[in-house]
Amino acid sequence: MTSQFEYLSVFDAQDTKKLGAIIQQCFGSSPENWERYHKRIGIENFRLLRQEGHISAGLAIYHMGQCYGGQIVPMAGIAAVGVAPEYRGKGAAYEILTQTIQELYRQSVPISVLYPATQVLYRKVGYEQAGSYCRWELPLSNIPIQARSMTIRRVSTDNYSIFESIYTRQAQINNGNLARHQAIWQHLLESEKEQAVYAYLIGSESEPEGYIIFTQERNEQELAIAIRDWAILTAEAAKCLWTFLGNHRSQTQKVSWQGSLSNPFLLLLPEQTAKIVWQMIWMMRIIDVSLALSKRGYPTGIEAELELEIRDNLLEANNGNFSLQVSGGRGEVRPGGKGTFQIDIRGLAPFYTGFLSPRQLQQLGYLKATPKALETATLLFSGDRPWMADFF
Ligand SMILES: CC(C)(COP(=O)(O)OP(=O)(O)OC[C@H]1O[C@@H](n2cnc3c(N)ncnc32)[C@H](O)[C@@H]1OP(=O)(O)O)[C@@H](O)C(=O)NCCC(=O)NCCS
Repeated sequence: MTSQFEYLSVFDAQDTKKLGAIIQQCFGSSPENWERYHKRIGIENFRLLRQEGHISAGLAIYHMGQCYGGQIVPMAGIAAVGVAPEYRGKGAAYEILTQTIQELYRQSVPISVLYPATQVLYRKVGYEQAGSYCRWELPLSNIPIQARSMTIRRVSTDNYSIFESIYTRQAQINNGNLARHQAIWQHLLESEKEQAVYAYLIGSESEPEGYIIFTQERNEQELAIAIRDWAILTAEAAKCLWTFLGNHRSQTQKVSWQGSLSNPFLLLLPEQTAKIVWQMIWMMRIIDVSLALSKRGYPTGIEAELELEIRDNLLEANNGNFSLQVSGGRGEVRPGGKGTFQIDIRGLAPFYTGFLSPRQLQQLGYLKATPKALETATLLFSGDRPWMADFF
């Protein structure tokens, strides 16, 4: 774009320090947090903007994956987008995001996801709402389940590998769940200010069927269990876990967790006592249309072709007609086709994740399609509503 901006990777300790100062000021964090944060993500995964000889902005890229249709799609999570206050309102954030998106395209990253502080900025570069992150609370007095068929055993939080395979089995059947970056695992297990982090495995030692990682939070009125992470593979494990949580009720008033708009394990409770107390919608940008469509999974029983016409103001190669041929649960993308399903790069995000249905997007004016193309698209992109339990 304009020569006023220079887009850079972090070069030396001086850059790291300047970037750290911007990020700390932007997000009100401490020097200790910055040290831990950049070491976990890897300083090579930060990008900078230089203006007038000074570093004016920065962001972090988490290279990880996200599950769609049972497949893990490589994904770049964008975080810590920050512009020094004296450089704000002059297009610095727009520029660093544009440059990052172009770099990700060159690196063949199919999709990118972020949590927006403002949608206006991210929509300008092609991100759109694409999935849920909800915070739930449940009073502990309302778990009258008594299931004790499985062993629940306390385990160390030193290493996340004992949880990862259980987590992955759960993630693969939930659209939007992450193939987590190690920084996210480390954050889930870290103890802040000497607070105890409790972790338990449910089921046999050789084949556990679930786990839970939590802390206990006390405020003036009450003690609460804050679940940092959990994964449950079977109904019996879920019942035993509800029982385990209920057994805290003499001292602990409620339990909270982060996750989907609807949690299947709540079906096991007698009443609708769990409530969403907060939610945020994360945004996605399709970076490489062909790669994104060919990396995700599709319903296995369907053979169909969808002829898309895409518009993208930022990345030239995403423009034009693409034929998506689906067979055996996988998709193949070729240039060409009649373009009977027309959508721009922003509309493609909620469509791709299944956050909104093709009919809903058509109603909103986000896409134009022939009735047959709309029907095919509805079949191919059907599935559970996308969600994530992780914030980054
Ligand atoms: C949010 C932030 C990154 C924006 O940086 P910036 O360099 O001022 O943004 P830009 O000048 O590139 O703005 C690009 C567009 O986004 C819009 N925008 C920027 N910040 C916005 C805000 N807070 N609310 C609404 N729109 C905003 C601008 O109006 C502009 O749109 P326009 O061209 O139609 O006017 C910056 O204010 C910041 O660092 N804030 C503190 C940290 C933060 O909240 N980061 C975001 C984390 S997700």
